[in-house]
Amino acid sequence: MGLYRKFVNQTRKPEGTLGKMMVNGMNSGHAKMADWGMSHLPEIVPSKILEVGCGGGRNAGELAKKYPSAKVTAIDYSEVSVAKATDYNNDLINAGRISVMRGDVSNLDLPVEIYDLATAFETIYFWPGLEKCFSEVAKVLKPGGVFMIVNESDGTDDVSLKFEKIIDGMKCYSIEQIESALKAAGFSSVTSDHFEGKPWIAVVAVK
Ligand SMILES: C[S@@+](CC[C@H](N)C(=O)[O-])C[C@H]1O[C@@H](n2cnc3c(N)ncnc32)[C@H](O)[C@@H]1O
Repeated sequence: MGLYRKFVNQTRKPEGTLGKMMVNGMNSGHAKMADWGMSHLPEIVPSKILEVGCGGGRNAGELAKKYPSAKVTAIDYSEVSVAKATDYNNDLINAGRISVMRGDVSNLDLPVEIYDLATAFETIYFWPGLEKCFSEVAKVLKPGGVFMIVNESDGTDDVSLKFEKIIDGMKCYSIEQIESALKAAGFSSVTSDHFEGKPWIAVVAVK
């Protein structure tokens, strides 16, 4: 595998030196899209938030700032991502507002039905089976809890489809595919938005 391909494969599970380089760029690289995504969150006052596939941890920090009375649990199955997210959120972790831990969304080892909000930015492409992983998220959300997915690919754009070919295990999804998997996983109300002029999508579901 060439160096470029090795590097872009770090998006799936950052590891080693290349993984550290990748995760360092994620926070700034995804910031605009993540902020657009967060503008779709409904008027809620969550007390517990789960940020899944947290990468470098920027979005966990933004969620903690947006919801000052909430505690945010940020998980990722990559040791490198967890280390970066911990370092990035040092002050909020010391203040007891954020905890960062390793965890795999396909088998969440977390208490059931305790979260009011779960978020997933730029990560579902790598999850091993949408319906199974969405069911895991549903398991830990309270009834009425909100799950928001934000992707910079709408499943049809050339750039992401090119990455899909060279990143092992990556799968780009359309809004329709995401909505259908959410409903199959037990989410009752699903609404979606597409950014005008870019393939960014935000999907918000209620358990
Ligand atoms: C492209 S990065 C996005 C990181 C961050 N959410 C952002 O928007 O910048 C994808 C992240 O999802 C994580 N990830 C992928 N599959 C996962 C899984 N099954 N469970 C937990 N984390 C996962 C990866 O380790 C990586 O840190």
